[in-house]
Amino acid sequence: MKPQYQYDVLVIGSGAAGLSLALRLAKRAKIAVISKKELTEGCTLYAQGGIAGVCRNQEDSIQDHVEDTIKAGAGLCDRHIVQYAVEKGQQQIEWLINLDVPFTRKKSSNGIEHFHLTREGGHRHRRVFHAADATGKAIEDTLVSQVHSHHNIDVFEHHLAIDLILENKTTEQKITDLTSTRKQNNRCVGAYILDRKKDTTRVFRARFVVLASGGASKVYLYTSNPDVSTGDGIAMAWRAGCRVANMEFIQFHPTCLYHQKAKSFLVTEALRGEGAKLLLPDGKPFMQQFDPRGELAPRDIVARAIDHEMKRLGIPCVYLDISHQPADFIKSHFPTIYKRCLEYGIDITTEAIPVVPAAHYTCGGVMTNIDGCSDIPGLYAIGETSFTGLHGANRMASNSLLECFVFSAAAAQDILRKIDSVDYPPILPEWDESRVTNSDEEVVVSHNWDELRQFMWDYVGIVRTNKRLERAKHRVDLLTREIEEYYEHFRVTNDLIELRNLVQVADLIIQSALSRKESRGLHYTLDYPETNVSVLPQNTILIPANYISPASDERASA
Ligand code: FAD
Ligand code: SIN
Repeated sequence: MKPQYQYDVLVIGSGAAGLSLALRLAKRAKIAVISKKELTEGCTLYAQGGIAGVCRNQEDSIQDHVEDTIKAGAGLCDRHIVQYAVEKGQQQIEWLINLDVPFTRKKSSNGIEHFHLTREGGHRHRRVFHAADATGKAIEDTLVSQVHSHHNIDVFEHHLAIDLILENKTTEQKITDLTSTRKQNNRCVGAYILDRKKDTTRVFRARFVVLASGGASKVYLYTSNPDVSTGDGIAMAWRAGCRVANMEFIQFHPTCLYHQKAKSFLVTEALRGEGAKLLLPDGKPFMQQFDPRGELAPRDIVARAIDHEMKRLGIPCVYLDISHQPADFIKSHFPTIYKRCLEYGIDITTEAIPVVPAAHYTCGGVMTNIDGCSDIPGLYAIGETSFTGLHGANRMASNSLLECFVFSAAAAQDILRKIDSVDYPPILPEWDESRVTNSDEEVVVSHNWDELRQFMWDYVGIVRTNKRLERAKHRVDLLTREIEEYYEHFRVTNDLIELRNLVQVADLIIQSALSRKESRGLHYTLDYPETNVSVLPQNTILIPANYISPASDERASA
C-alpha cells in the first residue's frame, strides 16, 4: 500500500483564495496546498484592475459599494452577503497592506501620500486599490513568499486533484437510511491527487478539505483565463453531491487584445476608468447608444454592445483608445499593457487597441453559506469556485478578489472553531487502477477538448437561443458518454481529467441556461429578451442525484 498523506486541512488551489486561507490557518493547523501547475499559476496572477474596497477618507461609502454591486448583479445578489463582503472588505485590504502588497500610492497636492484608487464599470466612485495594472501579480507574489516561509504549510506543485473522497466511500455502505447514516458517512475526508511529474495517484486525508480551484472559463474557445481554469472544483463538488448555482452567468470581459499571436491577454477595464473610449473601425464611439454610463456601464452591457456591433458590421474587433492621456501617465499606470501591446507593434500612447470580448469569470459555482461551507460536511468552497450570492447575475469589476479574501477569512474562522471536534480520517481506499490500461488514442481527448470549446463559444456565448442551447446540450450528452467510457477504461491523464470536468461544467452551464426563461444580467437569450419582472428573481439551483440535504447547522445558503 502506498503511504497516504495526512493533514488538518487540504487546500485545493493556490490563488488568492487558497493561499490566503492557508496563511490564516497555519498558526494552528498543518496544511497541504495542492496546485496543478506552478504555485503562482491561476487567474489571480493575471488580475489587472485591482480589488474593490471603500476607503475611509473618500467620498465613497459602504452603502454606495453595496448598491453598485446589487445594481450590477441585475436583481440576483444576496443583499445580506453583499453587505457582509463590502463591510469586511476594508479589513481584508488592510490585511494585504500589512503583508506589504505594493499597492500604487500617490502624493496629493499637500504632499501627503495615499493609495491611488482607480475606477471600473458599475462603480460610481473611484474605489479600486491596485498595483499599477498588475495587481494580481503583486498579490500572488506576496502570498507565495509568505506561504514559502511557513513551516506548517506544505506545497505540492504539479499535483492535480481528481476527485473528493467521502467517508461513505471508506465503508462502501449504501446510504438507505439518510437521517441515521448522513452524519457519519457523508463527510469529506480527503481527495485523490495525481502527481503529474511522477504520474502516480495518491490519497490525501484531511480533517477539512477546501476547494479553492478557481473558475471554468476554459470551457470557451476564447478566454482571458489561463489553462488551469477548467472548473475542476465545481465538477468534483457536483459529483460528490453538492448543489451548484447560477452557472448560466458566465461573464465575458469586453476587452481582450485581438491579435493573432496574443493568447488570452486582457486589457483592463481600468483603462476605461481613466477615460479610454470604445471605437468602431471608422473611429466613431458607440457605447452611449447602449447605455448612458457609456464605457463604464457594467460588463454584461458593454460586452453585448461590442458583440452587437461586431455582428452588425461584420468586423472582427472594435478598438479601445486611451491615447488622449499623456504618454507618461499611460506608461506609469498601465506598464504591462503598454509593454505587451508594443511587442505586437501597437503603441497605445498613440493608437487604439484592437479588442474583443472573451469568457472571463464564472459567477456561479458550488453553493456555500456565509462561512464557505458547502452541502457536504468538512468540505468548503471559496473564491471563484464558489457561489456565495455576492455577484448575482453579473459580477462587478474587482469584486472577485474581494470575495476571495473575505470568504477565505470566514472559512478559516469556521474551520478553527470546529477543528478540535473533528478527528483525523481513517486509512482510505487506494485509487483503483486494476481495470484500466494506458490509452492508445490520446487524439480522442484532444479532439473533444477542441470540439467542446468551439461549440460552447458558438452556442452558449454572449447571445443565446433555445435552439442553440439544445444543440449544445445534444453535443455535450454525446461527449459525456464518450468520455465516461474512456475514463473507465484508460489510466487517467491530466488532459482527460480536465476534459471530464469541462464537459461536466458545460452541462451545468447549459442546463442552467435552458432553465432560465428570461434575459437577466449575463444571460441573454433572443427567445426571452426581457427580464421577467412579474416574479421575484430566482437563483438557478441544480441538485445532483446523490445530494443529501445538510443538517441545519451545516446548510449552504439557498
Ligand atoms: P485562481 O487564482 O484561478 O486559482 C485557482 C487555483 O486552483 C490555481 O492554483 C490552480 O492551479 C488550482 N487548481 C485548479 N484545479 C485544480 C485541481 N484539480 N487540482 C489542483 N489544483 C487545481 N478580479 C478582480 O477582482 N480584480 C481584477 O482586477 C481581476 N482581473 C482579472 C484579470 C484576468 C486576466 C483574469 C483572468 C481574472 C481577473 N479577475 C479579477 C478575476 C480574479 O482574478 C479571479 O476570479 C480570482 O483571482 C480567482 O481566485 P481563486 O483563488 O478563486 O482562483
Ligand atoms: C480588469 O482589470 O478589467 C478585470 C477586473 C475584474 O475582472 O474584476
